[in-house]
Amino acid sequence: MKARELFMVLLLATNITSSVAFLDVIVALISRILHQEGDDLLQFNPIRLKDDLSKSLYGQHIVSEVVLKSVTSFMTDKNPNKPLVLSFHGTAGTGKNHVSKIIAKNLYKNGEKSTHFHMFISQYHFPHKEYVNIYSALLKQWIRGNVSSFPRSMFIFDEMDKMPPQLINTLKPFLDYNSQVDGVSFNKAMFIFLSNAGGSLIVDTALEFWKKGNDRNDLWMNSNDLENKLALHVFNDETSGFLYSSILDHHLVDHYVPFLPLELKHVRQCVKAEMVHLNITVDEDLADKVARDMVFYPEKEKVFAVKGCKSVRQKLVLYQE
Ligand SMILES: Nc1ncnc2c1ncn2[C@@H]1O[C@H](COP(=O)(O)OP(=O)(O)OP(=O)(O)O)[C@@H](O)[C@H]1O
Ligand SMILES: [Mg+2]
Repeated sequence: MKARELFMVLLLATNITSSVAFLDVIVALISRILHQEGDDLLQFNPIRLKDDLSKSLYGQHIVSEVVLKSVTSFMTDKNPNKPLVLSFHGTAGTGKNHVSKIIAKNLYKNGEKSTHFHMFISQYHFPHKEYVNIYSALLKQWIRGNVSSFPRSMFIFDEMDKMPPQLINTLKPFLDYNSQVDGVSFNKAMFIFLSNAGGSLIVDTALEFWKKGNDRNDLWMNSNDLENKLALHVFNDETSGFLYSSILDHHLVDHYVPFLPLELKHVRQCVKAEMVHLNITVDEDLADKVARDMVFYPEKEKVFAVKGCKSVRQKLVLYQE
């Protein structure tokens, strides 16, 4: 059963009664049913994570390094003093969901299909502003219930910038140092926020770097103070739900991770990966043709793919005989 269906069950429950104690019982029951499917936590292997990142993530050297180091240190620590909180930023199709799945695959036998992998998409799971109080109560119970029965749970919040600030603030108590909510510790849980917030800042930085003739691989978190600028930008963006939330003030996010815009050569790699996925013989010329068929920007330089590696598969099938 997926998070949305379970949320619906809980939503129905709130129509019967708004009692938080009642919700607690429901979440505990559902968690118990789900966890009968077994504990699918893998023995964490940093070499496997490194290998997966280097083989299936293209053009994201900063992401690879930050994810490898932070996840490894967190997963090999028997007593972390805080949950791991990562915030992924970047334009469309640069790999934010892709990397979350790579992490899940390295944590659980069933990867993203594990019952410990919880994905929330703001506009899908929390579409109505007027229900924010209900969402907030449900989310709290959901996280608490799941972490209490399985501490190494992973929570992904997609479109985080579109999440109502009140809901973002609901997460705050879970993200803090040695946080305990009603006797449950969250130190072993992982939270990952995905958003396009700060995407334009990352693109501008990458473009400037490119214009100076620098090697993309020399762009790091501390080049141009990228991480700090990114955090400030994200929380000052008037279109972002982060703006009114107090997660930044409390320094609860461990790393703001910039996903760089992808270039032609990376899109080409994505096309080749899709060929393998679709069981087609890998053809360099065809990969190049498909990649060049994508739209690139800025207008003049045409360096970065507008949609990154998104819809590469759909483009590829058009070229098949
Ligand atoms: N850097 C990358 N390396 C390898 N594959 C990638 C990369 N970026 C994207 N892809 C491929 O493109 C698909 C779409 O990417 P993904 O969903 O991760 O983008 P996103 O960053 O979450 O974009 P959006 O902001 O639009 O949600 C992925 O499933 C993956 O196959
Ligand atoms: Mg995405």
